[in-house]
Amino acid sequence: MDYLPLCVNVAVSVLAGFVTFRAVPAVAKKLLAANLFGKDLNKDCDKRIPEALGVVSGAIFLVMHFALIPVPSLGCWLSKNCPGYPQIQLVQLLAALLALCCMLLLGFADDVLNLPWRHKLALPAVAALPLLTTYLLTEGPTTVLIPEPLRPLLGLHVHLGALYYVYMGLLCVFCTNAINILAGVNGLEAGQTVIIAASIAIFNLIELHGDAWYSHLFSLYFMVPLLCTTLGLLYHNWFPANVFVGDTFCYFAGMAFAVVGILGHFGKTMLLFFMPQLFNFAYSAPQLFHLLPCPRHRIPRFDRTSGKLDVSFARAKVDDISLLGHLVLRIGDCTGLISVRWKVDPDEAYVEFGNLTLLNLLLLHFGRVHERTLTLRTLSVQVLGSVLAFTIRYPLARIFYES
Ligand code: UD1
Ligand code: MG
Repeated sequence: MDYLPLCVNVAVSVLAGFVTFRAVPAVAKKLLAANLFGKDLNKDCDKRIPEALGVVSGAIFLVMHFALIPVPSLGCWLSKNCPGYPQIQLVQLLAALLALCCMLLLGFADDVLNLPWRHKLALPAVAALPLLTTYLLTEGPTTVLIPEPLRPLLGLHVHLGALYYVYMGLLCVFCTNAINILAGVNGLEAGQTVIIAASIAIFNLIELHGDAWYSHLFSLYFMVPLLCTTLGLLYHNWFPANVFVGDTFCYFAGMAFAVVGILGHFGKTMLLFFMPQLFNFAYSAPQLFHLLPCPRHRIPRFDRTSGKLDVSFARAKVDDISLLGHLVLRIGDCTGLISVRWKVDPDEAYVEFGNLTLLNLLLLHFGRVHERTLTLRTLSVQVLGSVLAFTIRYPLARIFYES
């Protein structure tokens, strides 16, 4: 394998990170002038914070990739050990960049127009279409390797066919929205992206000497610039945030992960690095699917007197909650997963429950903390998740997939 294209990519990525770091404050002024700003809900001031700065890191990522388009193909040609034709990899690269372009545009549209939730869910599925079509036309594999204990029943592989495309579409919808709903404290969206991108890059480096080296090289071409440009953005988004990354960034980063998972054929391993997001999504499901009321913002409540963050509550009339909603609240209350307060006013009975997010759960069990501490704790959970992911992927997977 020729390491030159990878070295070029790394060097240009570092440069792209530096350009992002310098460009963000300049573009932030223009976004403020264009009235694209938000209020920091966890601060005791009315400062206007420019929104959607993910457009800068995303655009720099794309420009860098456009400039380097010949590089991965070059590496393939030089190595003379490429599975298939280099043109196929070029088509896949262009499809990946198209999906990312779409997501950047749709994310920016969301930041400007504040789209409703059902549209937010549909957008990534639309942006994934060119990617999935390319996967079909380039005859991407649709088989899954079966773990040892199930092989007597199912065989070595299972061909999923069309179901595999449904799985890939759902992967795009999940990755893009998962980062967006684990958000609301300074530095969290960009911070979790840095940790996931670094974890995937480490995984790719380990696998670079295996049979599927080209897939992992392809993934590195995306993860290294994502890591560098996000670090440039994180500097300005870290507590106290001078800019917000916006849905533009969450969608773009999520799609970058989905793209490498799909085209690199390691979608399952990639999901292992999303463990906190998977938990947050499952935990949020009763609110996302309207079993329980879901307020516009579910971020922790800012306590002005102590300057710390505490669990935020949603409120509903007892009569308005479905049987299933009641069941969720009762189980959550018994298991200590949800803080529930049943209350009776003279004219109505109502219930207050802690919003179902990982941030609120951390506050519920470890007490109220300063915003920066909550970000650091959540990012520590992300790091622990990555350590667990590597443990599952290597020592444990060897037991199940030995032969
Ligand atoms: C998602 C969450 C919502 C959460 C919001 C915060 C769901 C279903 N939706 O909505 O509960 O409140 O993200 O990002 O889980 N903000 C801060 N501090 C930050 C980041 C954001 O105060 O560090 C506030 C700002 O007012 C900013 C706004 O959140 O303008 C951005 O919210 P937006 O990204 O539009 O919310 P959603 O993605 O729709
Ligand atoms: Mg958002």
